[in-house]
Amino acid sequence: MAEIIPIGADHAGFELKERLVAELKTLGFTPNDVGTHSTASTDYPDYAHVVADQVSRGQARRGVLLCGTGLGMAYAANRHHGVRAAVAWEPEIARLARLHNDANILVLPARFVTEPEGIEILKTWLATPFEGGRHERRVEKIEVENI
Ligand code: RB5
Repeated sequence: MAEIIPIGADHAGFELKERLVAELKTLGFTPNDVGTHSTASTDYPDYAHVVADQVSRGQARRGVLLCGTGLGMAYAANRHHGVRAAVAWEPEIARLARLHNDANILVLPARFVTEPEGIEILKTWLATPFEGGRHERRVEKIEVENI
């Protein structure tokens, strides 16, 4: 069965989200588009919490969020237990976010990347595994109760 990937955006990320939803389908995933569904002004936490909750509860292994800078989405998503939401503005950041940080939510700064760049960042993040090893201990220490 195809992996379900929740994806959400505010108005600033809407257009790139539409493109990434199509790309996820092309790549064989099943995107769960939680909105927004137009360019009308919306509040980014409303979408961040829906996607992050699914990842935090294990209903989805990973998710994707988009807003203007990526920052608001990352702040909100990272409030959820077990979520590691990484803002990536180029493929190498996405690759390292997977290799070293086991990022389980990709956040795209939609106002600062082109459509082809966004697609490349998504593909890199999807295809890169967690390196483990010394990074495992560091990732475990992110959760406050593990320190
Ligand atoms: C919306 O104008 C903008 O503030 C939002 O998309 C995001 O950049 C917030 O962090």
